[in-house]
Amino acid sequence: MSERRIMTDLFASPSDFARTARLVPFADLDAELERLSDSSAAHARASGFEGAPGQVVMLPGEAGLDALVGAGTAQSPFEAAGAALALPEGDWSYDGLPKGWDATQTAIAFALGAYQFTRYKTPKRAPARLVAPQGCDVAEAERVARGVYLTRDLINTPAGDMLPSDLEAAARELAEAHGASVSVITGDELLEQNYPMIHAVGRAADDAPRLIEFEWGDERHPRLALVGKGVCFDSGGLDIKPADGMLLMKKDMGGSATVLGLASMIMDAKLPVRLHVLIPAVENAISGNAFRPGDILKSRKGLTVEVGNTDAEGRLVLADAITKACESDPELLIDMATLTGAARVAMGPDVAPFYTDVEAIADGVFEAGGRIDDPVWRLPLWSRYDEWMDSPIADLSSTGNGKFAGSITAALFLRRFGSDAKEWAHFDIFGWTPSARPGRPQGGEMLAGRAVFDYLKTRFKS
Ligand code: BES
Ligand code: MN
Ligand code: ZN
Repeated sequence: MSERRIMTDLFASPSDFARTARLVPFADLDAELERLSDSSAAHARASGFEGAPGQVVMLPGEAGLDALVGAGTAQSPFEAAGAALALPEGDWSYDGLPKGWDATQTAIAFALGAYQFTRYKTPKRAPARLVAPQGCDVAEAERVARGVYLTRDLINTPAGDMLPSDLEAAARELAEAHGASVSVITGDELLEQNYPMIHAVGRAADDAPRLIEFEWGDERHPRLALVGKGVCFDSGGLDIKPADGMLLMKKDMGGSATVLGLASMIMDAKLPVRLHVLIPAVENAISGNAFRPGDILKSRKGLTVEVGNTDAEGRLVLADAITKACESDPELLIDMATLTGAARVAMGPDVAPFYTDVEAIADGVFEAGGRIDDPVWRLPLWSRYDEWMDSPIADLSSTGNGKFAGSITAALFLRRFGSDAKEWAHFDIFGWTPSARPGRPQGGEMLAGRAVFDYLKTRFKS
């Protein structure tokens, strides 16, 4: 049985019931219309079809061809991914792919464009389903799409239903599905076990702070640690955020959601790694016992940190989790976090900035991101700014006093902890698509996760 016959609910299996669509790039419009009957060509023109990305026109009278789908400049399958919701419901098959399109990436793009967040509202229609194109690795397309769906679902779920205990449940569900072993340290036990900064940030919330961990895979394989910021809601703490800055802060667990989606891909693909996932899960809330600006916290690593602003909470919880990860001496440690507004100011919502001192990681992830349409861009760990993070009365300040380079200084803060790993990379992600684009519905999004997965597949081959 060929791989493309596997029955899934994300992709249709080849059947008599699938209708046929043809992908038409801008450049091929005239030639493609000429291949049609005069009436179909006239209908397509009259409908305004011009090959724009994801644009659809039905062809009622054309034998063997039911629709045209715009493929835009045809540079990437993502351009046409909007087709999943533009084509009528039912199963569809493409009668070929534009030159250079990878069948697996085409299936992934289509599936990502078909995503709907259904927990609180029944969508008006179901997405179209694609028959996996010839040559598609259906299992791979399925695992990548499932991972992204998980990330999006977790981010889209409002904080009221996605508090640290809910995030723990989600992590447990994933871990148990793959036979990973889970351990969670909750509430005051964080103090006993020496995670003072996770406790300090999360102690004001009713839903107790916790460090969620799981380990998976053969212990003889190289160790890979993934750390994800799990701030389930970021009010800003006492240095409270203004209303417009707080509105989207259910997404402040986007790093952990991305790490969980990525972990699901890694485990499903059975990459030969010993995976260690760490999620410091907290709500940055306000209460009489909240931590304060000016407080000095002692980190797990032993460094003391003066709190410059309680809204710089992510780096604090990450630091303790990163220190824990380093205690197992990983080959590679990657952290992902919705860490700074400055990253969004620099890059906007599409491109994820990342940091590493390892050239091979920078090159590998950048190349993968370009190839599979998950763009990332390296920013510098500019050592001269390290001194900006000095505090006169503690080992370092959480914010420094500079107003510049907020994403870089946050990364430099994390490097004080992450440099204990053999190799370390940090992604300052946005986790959100503000307005829908092809393949990227409005709302929670996995940024950099597919690029990192692709890099890891190349680096850790079985
Ligand atoms: N979660 C925010 C960062 C954020 C804001 C990400 C908006 C994406 C969109 C983070 O905890 C934060 O508040 N960072 C502060 C740090 C500052 C107080 C040094 C920021 O970026 O303003
Ligand atoms: Mn904050
Ligand atoms: Zn935050």
